[in-house]
Amino acid sequence: MPKVYSGDLTKMFDISGKKAMIFGGAGGFGEAIAEGYAANGCSVCISSRSEEKLQAAVARIEAKAAPGVKVMYMAGDAGDEEFVKKTLEVVTSAEGLGGVDILVNAQGINKKMWSYEIDTEFFEKMLHTNITSLMLTSKYFGNWMKNNNLEGQEPVEIVPGQPNTNKGYGKIINFGSVRGIRAVANGGGGNVPYNTTKGAVEMLTKAYAADLRPNIQVNAIGPTITYTPMMVGILPPDENVRNGIAGSLPAMRIGYEVDVVGPAIFLASAASDMVTATTIYPDGGLVATS
Ligand SMILES: NC(=O)c1ccc[n+]([C@@H]2O[C@H](COP(=O)([O-])OP(=O)(O)OC[C@H]3O[C@@H](n4cnc5c(N)ncnc54)[C@H](OP(=O)(O)O)[C@@H]3O)[C@@H](O)[C@H]2O)c1
Repeated sequence: MPKVYSGDLTKMFDISGKKAMIFGGAGGFGEAIAEGYAANGCSVCISSRSEEKLQAAVARIEAKAAPGVKVMYMAGDAGDEEFVKKTLEVVTSAEGLGGVDILVNAQGINKKMWSYEIDTEFFEKMLHTNITSLMLTSKYFGNWMKNNNLEGQEPVEIVPGQPNTNKGYGKIINFGSVRGIRAVANGGGGNVPYNTTKGAVEMLTKAYAADLRPNIQVNAIGPTITYTPMMVGILPPDENVRNGIAGSLPAMRIGYEVDVVGPAIFLASAASDMVTATTIYPDGGLVATS
């Protein structure tokens, strides 16, 4: 039986002593989550391609981390299968975090292209980064959690062509978007490629939840427009002007990076043990009202 906590809120949301792998961990949302996890006692490995950005992010995360928390990084491309395998090997080794309980997929790219000018090569790069890399990390980290987080159960041998019946436990959190279920009004804003990739994340999340059952919960976070490094140059530099764009939403503002941290802690903790195959939208009400 999975653990079901009642009453004690501190235990229900407790992530102390856990180990999290965060791809895209030097990005706006990824770093905010890494900081939130580390401050609450969860060791983290962050990963993305730029080693320089990772080193700077590690220093900021360490400055906020709870005592005893380990913060490390792995630089590489999450769309490279060999790199994902190597990352799993290092993170689960004694020199790394010694295991993994939580996988966050916060990597992603975005380029606006009107339909008449979609660059096929870049479209395929977006598919690879925003979809294929999530398949790879979920494949390797998800099955590792299933086969190794067994708490005394004997591992079951995997038979090719048959499901993996090891139970394990773990949490996988993908980054979808409001754009996974809402196209942009008034002409679409050149969002065909991005909308396409985020729609796929919705279904990849549900399908992995079904495949990795019963004790690996797979969910997504679908934020609204947020001024992260991804959106510099796409959104106006003035905060008031940016928030004005969202004036018709219930929240009357766009998102801040910190808006995803609460959902990410909930989805990483025992509080969400019956929540799987779904997306939480910290979107200020966008999907319900537009
Ligand atoms: N900002 C928004 O408005 C918004 C809204 C909804 C959803 N999202 C989604 O939220 C997630 C995080 O985005 P963000 O806004 O935090 O953007 P961000 O600040 O640009 O962060 C994205 C991160 O992904 C990494 N990355 C990109 N390609 C990679 C690859 N091939 N392999 C490994 N790492 C890679 C980037 O680092 P390197 O370039 O150094 O590799 C960066 O650390 C994305 O999936 C995005 O689509 C964003």
